[in-house]
Amino acid sequence: MSETVPSLCQAYNPYFPIGAAVSPRSLEVQRDLLVHHYNSLTAENCMKPESVQRVEGIFTFGDADTLADFAREHRMKLRGHTLVWHSQTPDWFFEAGEGNDGGVAEPEALLARMEAHIGAVVGRYRGAVYAWDVVNEAVSDSGPELLRTNSRWGAILGDDYLLHAFQFAHATDPAALLFYNDYNECETGKRDRIVAMLKGLLARGAPIHGFGMQGHWGLSSPPLDSIRASIEAYAALGLMVQVTELDISMYEWSHGPSDLTEPTAEMLDAQTKRYGEIFAIFREYRDVITGVTFWGASDDHTWLDNFPEKGRKNWPFVFDTEHRPKKSFRTILP
Ligand code: GLA
Repeated sequence: MSETVPSLCQAYNPYFPIGAAVSPRSLEVQRDLLVHHYNSLTAENCMKPESVQRVEGIFTFGDADTLADFAREHRMKLRGHTLVWHSQTPDWFFEAGEGNDGGVAEPEALLARMEAHIGAVVGRYRGAVYAWDVVNEAVSDSGPELLRTNSRWGAILGDDYLLHAFQFAHATDPAALLFYNDYNECETGKRDRIVAMLKGLLARGAPIHGFGMQGHWGLSSPPLDSIRASIEAYAALGLMVQVTELDISMYEWSHGPSDLTEPTAEMLDAQTKRYGEIFAIFREYRDVITGVTFWGASDDHTWLDNFPEKGRKNWPFVFDTEHRPKKSFRTILP
């Protein structure tokens, strides 16, 4: 890492921590970049239910422990992601026990599994993880219902499952900051549903401290006004706001396949402008924004290389595939 490149997280010390989502492999291949520029980490996958409890009662914490050790060694914050989600969660959670193959779990059984899972995972990282994404992506994309209808958590436990999840997490680690995390968080309809859902939870006394705006954004969407209005809407609930999964795709959602092997100059310019505008807004809301995490660290590794188009290279970060700062890096420096 060149000495002349200022540290991104140091530059942001007066504002908020700067995070990256990481895997066991990225802790090795992106090590120097991570240590120099980031002071917060999130597990890209290795703390999800399918990673830590693939089989009921058998916990596999190896990769998550490696991550926690790395964060401690380098004095970085650690966000926990995620405890209760409709995706990347083994089927056994939702199935009836032995002798009832094919059946659906009774609500009491599913709730007990939720409690055991949260107790074990939050308990293991008490004092190491300072903030948990307790529930991920529970809200409906289209309405009219508030909650998505394809979550087996909701189908079996009803809407109360969110309240239980926050209560279990708080009981296990009363000092941890507890977040609800979701995407399309700046789209008006979804934002209204998220706000209504959070209001309901807060009215019932749920121990919830923040909203995580995932921030999987594009070069032109969501519009800056929507980002601003959304931060304000979530903060108006009395919650802190974190940007938890930021990346700026080079493609429109509808773009289709591409065989580009490098970003065009136009793409890089548009991304630089966009990053500058977005971080100016984040700095403006420093009173309510308590963290900004990218969903990766540099352009050599991003889930967007395979989503929504498999094998379409994308360059969503402010460091390139060789870990060198892009123009967008300069433009986000305060
Ligand atoms: C969602 C989840 C993350 C991750 C990303 C894409 O936003 O919250 O855990 O799966 O999608 O990789």
